Amino acid sequence: MINFDFHKYIKKYIKKEDKIIYLDKAKSIKERFVSGDLSYWNKLDTFISKKELIKLINLTDFIKENCDVFLVIGIGGSYMGSKAVIEALSPLYHRKKPEIIFLGTNLTAEEYYETINYLEDKKVIVNVISKSGTTLEPSIAFSLIMEMMEKKYSLDELKNRIIITTDSEDGDLRKLVNEKDFISFTIPKNIGGRFSVFTPVGLLPISVAGFNVAKILDGARESFDKVDRAIEYAIIRDILYHKHKYIESFTVYNNKLYYFTEWLKQLFAETQGKDSKGILPISCVNTRDLHSLGQFFQDGSDIIFETVIGIDKDFKIALEQYDIELNNLNRIALDKVALAHSNGHTPSNIITIDEKNEHTIGELIYFFILSSIIGAILLDVNPFNQPGVQDYKDLINNELK
Ligand code: PA5
Repeated sequence: MINFDFHKYIKKYIKKEDKIIYLDKAKSIKERFVSGDLSYWNKLDTFISKKELIKLINLTDFIKENCDVFLVIGIGGSYMGSKAVIEALSPLYHRKKPEIIFLGTNLTAEEYYETINYLEDKKVIVNVISKSGTTLEPSIAFSLIMEMMEKKYSLDELKNRIIITTDSEDGDLRKLVNEKDFISFTIPKNIGGRFSVFTPVGLLPISVAGFNVAKILDGARESFDKVDRAIEYAIIRDILYHKHKYIESFTVYNNKLYYFTEWLKQLFAETQGKDSKGILPISCVNTRDLHSLGQFFQDGSDIIFETVIGIDKDFKIALEQYDIELNNLNRIALDKVALAHSNGHTPSNIITIDEKNEHTIGELIYFFILSSIIGAILLDVNPFNQPGVQDYKDLINNELK
């Protein structure tokens, strides 16, 4: 379950009359999600068909039994969601087998050299993920890894060890599936990378990492009828933006949510940062970052607000000298920091999950996906494209020609 407090540490900045002008917009956005052109977002089938879900769960068992390393190749939305969920839910040490390695997120020779050496004596299954099938970084990663895989395994064996997640018809990766008969999954045409955690893009690596994807989907389903909450959050962000709050920090109090904030940064930056508009998403992992960014939030330029994600239930560790449990102290820190920052000029939205598990993470992901789309509609930008990402690609590609 998620609790939202969009009031306590923000009331000074948002008056009732600020919200009134959004009433008509909120009504029409809700209608679009409930029964209009955006209602496909509220159906699980939009993300994955029942047939693909069963295939994915069955394949998970095969993968776990047949490799030491599950190598996921992809960038942006093709890796951030699964990385975020796996890091949020996995133990710090002694993780379950197989080891999950992500590759294709950069062009750093050192990383490729070390990874290929590391994989030399390991049993490997590769999942290459790219909707377009043309993105430079994963294409390079895949070609280097294929070279290695072809030395290690016969063509027949590769059919069990290369899994391609891509568009149902278009792109070079789909062509390769058709030519070589590799195992494949489909990325739905109407779901862009950053929204694809509930498609095979996110679910296969999450499932191989040992998490119950049905519970994640249950969490998402529970958020379907909470569009009002997402609208409220999007309106608050929009009001703050028009009051010159140009930066939003996604602030967490648990290191394991660091990659979740990375996913949030990608989600909001690519969905809303266009046409010279949008709020710049940054992130803070507290209490560590209170000793760095915290100074700026309290006392620096008046351009920031925070969206803080807290977790109610955690391991019980007693601090006898203070007669308090460590997790309660962490919660006190969250509240007092929000109070101090809002007494300065940085207000905070507080979002709390009762417990960190598959269900609540699924709920949170869907809430933020909806909010990012609604926020883009309020800004009057297209939520579903990312034209700015193309420019650097074109320049590099020209150089390669
Ligand atoms: O959200 C998005 O659409 C992007 O971040 C893409 O996921 C990213 O650019 C990778 O694209 P592709 O899956 O086509 O390789």
